[in-house]
Amino acid sequence: MIDLRKPIGVFDSGIGGLTVVKRLVEKLPNERFVYFGDTARVPYGAKSNETVIEYALQDARFLLSRNVKAIVVACNSASSVAIPALRAAFDVPVVGVIEPGARYAARRAPGGKIGVVGTRATIDNRAYSRALASVNPDVKIFEKACPLFVPLAEEGWIDEEVTRLVAEKYLAEFREKELDALILGCTHYPLLAAPIQAAVGENVALVDSGVAAAEATAQELTTLGLRSDFEGEGEREFFVSDVPTKFKEVAERFLGREIEKIRKVDLETLRRR
Ligand code: DGL
Repeated sequence: MIDLRKPIGVFDSGIGGLTVVKRLVEKLPNERFVYFGDTARVPYGAKSNETVIEYALQDARFLLSRNVKAIVVACNSASSVAIPALRAAFDVPVVGVIEPGARYAARRAPGGKIGVVGTRATIDNRAYSRALASVNPDVKIFEKACPLFVPLAEEGWIDEEVTRLVAEKYLAEFREKELDALILGCTHYPLLAAPIQAAVGENVALVDSGVAAAEATAQELTTLGLRSDFEGEGEREFFVSDVPTKFKEVAERFLGREIEKIRKVDLETLRRR
């Protein structure tokens, strides 16, 4: 019989996935989580599909070596290409951010007009378009890659003039579209929700895929009978493939809480798995 108290593994190309961990912890406070951020190889959003799939498989193998009972791909770029390979390679449930995010957005867009912002990989793979079309073929989709949002979020420049200008420049074309919802299709973007909302207009509902992924994870675990029976607060462990100087500070801002210990995983070890 499976040990229900085994942790849930979560990975991202770096620290952006911590916005998803935040939502997972809110939704599933009694679960244990092991987070892996591939900070040595970030960004995934500018790499080829083959490379991202290879990295995602290595990241997942690392999490499985920590004995996880499920894997959450807390990276849109990886979710946009690697989910089939991950599901084929491993026998634990794998939850991505894109399908849940698309379903959630479709529910919040009665007028059927949805914008999507993300990295080049996510947008070029048309990951959300495909997912949205399968939920509701009548939906109108407007997509835009916004690569500069990632470094701005990592730098913590939320309330800065430069961020407002970048958001306005990227999102000006969405203004006249009268969108119902805008999907924040990159795990860094929820941090920039305020300048993005201001640029796109107050009437547009912003969709954080992390919220949707947390709901989907809870649902999947319940369906499979894998929910933890622990009654206290679950343990959280953090691993990275490199420790950038600002990691702790940025990670704590992403997560909204203090992180005591961050351990480093050697890239060679990761590749050998
Ligand atoms: N976390 C990534 C995503 O959600 C953004 C950073 C990257 O390009 O790796 O797409």
